[in-house]
Amino acid sequence: MTALAILVLHGPNLNLLGGREPEIYGKTTLQDIEDDLKLDAVQLGVELRFLQSNHEGILVDAVHTAAMTCRGLLINPAAYTHTSVALRDAIAAAGLPTVEVHLSNIYRRESFRHFSYIAPVAIGQISGFGAQSYRLGLRALVTYLSTSDANT
Ligand code: DQA
Repeated sequence: MTALAILVLHGPNLNLLGGREPEIYGKTTLQDIEDDLKLDAVQLGVELRFLQSNHEGILVDAVHTAAMTCRGLLINPAAYTHTSVALRDAIAAAGLPTVEVHLSNIYRRESFRHFSYIAPVAIGQISGFGAQSYRLGLRALVTYLSTSDANT
């Protein structure tokens, strides 16, 4: 039986994690985050696909592809959280169960980060737990997929 495929999508500047504003985002690199998620995926029995891009259209294209090839989406939209109608519309059109994650607690930061275009088209959002936000988000998504009608 093929495992449930989930796309893990990282938005702009997340390729710089580890060195980027470590007082906000920590010292964990994107590679570290993905390595941890891969271990969790084995335990959870899901297959993960990863993509990071600094380009909005590439992220939109990835969501379109995921609609045909994956069962769920775990996304840190990064700055596009606060700006991208295109990414939000892509997620809405894909109809894929989506969990939005943020390393930092966006509600404790500048007011322009308090609004998310993605939140209304996501099942839920996890914000503020550093690299753990991704791991919590993956568990939340897999739990949702395994208990919802979407999986029957
Ligand atoms: C972020 C929060 C965003 O406001 C910011 O633009 C990012 C990272 C986070 O993970 O905390 O790039 O999504």
